[in-house]
Amino acid sequence: MLKPDAIENGHMGKIIDMIIGAGFTIKAMKYTRLTTEQAQKFYEVHAERPFYGELVEYMTSGPIVAAILDKDNAVADFRALIGATDPAEAAEGTIRKAYAENKGRNAVHGSDSDENAQIEGEFHFSSSEIF
Ligand code: CMP
Repeated sequence: MLKPDAIENGHMGKIIDMIIGAGFTIKAMKYTRLTTEQAQKFYEVHAERPFYGELVEYMTSGPIVAAILDKDNAVADFRALIGATDPAEAAEGTIRKAYAENKGRNAVHGSDSDENAQIEGEFHFSSSEIF
């Protein structure tokens, strides 16, 4: 997902360009806005964390771009491309280093496993929207 801060700050096109430039192909893409219920569900693994309420509020604060990406070794390579959760710790050349504001408003989300990529892809897209 490209998160609300990335859209709000006008970085949508540049981030998508970095993703394609890094060798990912786009299997599905959608410009949408999460409802509170959707954001709560998407991040339910973090429900007990102190930042959960803030995270849900932020993720529903404006439109996002959801995408399913394809590449060999996609999960690890995408996490390398986006960089550390906190942009202060993100490596030079990563999306978060270039575009994230802080640990919460951090521009992009990437799935942390193939299994979660499958679940998160199905969360956003029906089979007819995946190419
Ligand atoms: P993401 O990769 O989408 O996964 C969980 C999200 O929770 C994370 O990116 C951040 O946006 C958010 N997050 C993680 N840690 C913190 C924190 N300490 N404070 C606020 N938000 C956080």
